[in-house]
Amino acid sequence: MWDNLFEGLSFFPEAASTIAGEIDAVFLFSVAVTVVCTVLIFGMIVFLAVKFRRRDENFVPKPIHGSTPLEIFWSIIPFIITQILFGWGAYLFFKYSSPPADAMDVHVVGKQWMWKVQHPEGKREINQLHVPLGQPVRLIMTSEDVVHSFYIPAFRVKRDAVPGRYNTLWFEANKTGEFHLFCAEYCGTEHSRMIGSVVVLPPREYDEWLRTDDGVETPAEAGERLFSRLRCDSCHAAEGVGRAPSLRNVFGSTVTLKDGSRATIDETFIRESILNPTHAVAGGYDAVMPTFQGQVTEEQILELIAYIRSLGADR
Ligand code: CUA
Repeated sequence: MWDNLFEGLSFFPEAASTIAGEIDAVFLFSVAVTVVCTVLIFGMIVFLAVKFRRRDENFVPKPIHGSTPLEIFWSIIPFIITQILFGWGAYLFFKYSSPPADAMDVHVVGKQWMWKVQHPEGKREINQLHVPLGQPVRLIMTSEDVVHSFYIPAFRVKRDAVPGRYNTLWFEANKTGEFHLFCAEYCGTEHSRMIGSVVVLPPREYDEWLRTDDGVETPAEAGERLFSRLRCDSCHAAEGVGRAPSLRNVFGSTVTLKDGSRATIDETFIRESILNPTHAVAGGYDAVMPTFQGQVTEEQILELIAYIRSLGADR
């Protein structure tokens, strides 16, 4: 609905995702509130300064002792306005914090100074992200070194890629074309060149684009290979008879740990368990797993997660 209004205005980015209109609406509302208040305040300053100016040397004004109705009026109005902004912002924040169940997972790893992307079918790209039109896409993001921030102005989405954890971001593109991709967090000398583009293709063209790299390993397949190369399968036996729990159908489920606490098996939990295995040991097992810190890259950890996920998931 805002598309036409801002056409040709280069200071306002193009809107190309399903959430863009709603984000723009709340942004424009807050700008409108700011403009109205600014005009009102400065207008009143000028008007009152003129109206109540000192008219002669000996003029002493009548003392004023305040007005309760006036004070209530200018307390209630701003309260209502800020609550509208808060409620509206919170509503949008929650709405866009949870990706739809049919979202397609794309892995993103930031490093000085590039964005590395891998699609669920295995295709990789650097500083580019191809996505199909009208399909919710969930980015699972981390960083190899420092904090970066993945920012697509045309989609009105931005989220940090933080070393040591996974952040997710989702969007659904509703316009084909090529859009800017920025790193929005100062991350060193070449931060300003850590840029790229997001290419939105109609679904059929996206499938064709994917097929240009046919036969490439999917993250789950690469993860499976890694799983046996690192000998993970010698303990995490599929039948659950090993020295460690079977990883079948565990993704998304809740486990009881040795110390009695409970944890949900998600991306971050698996990552922690690979790098720091003693932090959470499943109940009934011994803390015998060695750390794989330094032996696996961030991308390989993502592949292992994709493999564990492919073994069946609770969600
Ligand atoms: Cu990466 Cu700035």
